[in-house]
Amino acid sequence: MNNKILILNMKMYMDIDDVNNYLDKIKTVPDNVVLCPESIYIPYFLKQYKNISIQSIYPANSGAYTGCISPNQVKKMGVNYAVVGHSECRKYFSLSDIDINTKVKSALENNLNVILCIGETLEEKEAGMSFKKIKEQLDTDLNGVVNNNIIIAYEPIYSIGTGKIPTNSDIIDTIIYIKSVLKKKNLDLKVLYGGSVNSTNINDLIKIKEVDGFMVGKSSSIVDEVEKMIKVVSC
Ligand code: PGA
Repeated sequence: MNNKILILNMKMYMDIDDVNNYLDKIKTVPDNVVLCPESIYIPYFLKQYKNISIQSIYPANSGAYTGCISPNQVKKMGVNYAVVGHSECRKYFSLSDIDINTKVKSALENNLNVILCIGETLEEKEAGMSFKKIKEQLDTDLNGVVNNNIIIAYEPIYSIGTGKIPTNSDIIDTIIYIKSVLKKKNLDLKVLYGGSVNSTNINDLIKIKEVDGFMVGKSSSIVDEVEKMIKVVSC
């Protein structure tokens, strides 16, 4: 049994008709699958599935924060994971690694499992700076963190939504590097790959033993794709 983790990051792809169709077609998912619907649909997903993640949190428990959702609020509803530091959030909400660190701690304090996204740009990769960038992110994002309830999603930014996946050997080297940095921090965490994963290329990516699973964006809102990917990670 492979039992790799599959994180389905639905981003902002689905409307209510898509959600109803999804819930109707995908009756159950195995325990190694985490679904990250848009926040407004979380109550529907909670009725049907066990592992639900919010896509982003605001690191305060309550207060005058218009448009924000707290880790405490979602935890009380039954959500058990929080994505932190996705590259789209880093970009569109101008989040620094210090902001990410605050969010990681806030999620952990509220007993949410954290899915921490890291990854370098194409320019950084071409300049030979990939490991430097990744180390900087891990050092700041995980500063003062001793909790192992974190999954790392390595998502090279140039791979997200582009179909440009690094070579298997690049992925292996990076995952091994990430695990070595984590080991020095006494953290024993699963490390996933994310970026343009779909039901076709997952059949090759699953062979990389160093990769503990996948974070999927676009394909995670397509029923047929999800059913096929679940089969691959669960056999
Ligand atoms: P993608 O996104 O699968 O659409 O490339 C991955 C992600 O952003 O998590």
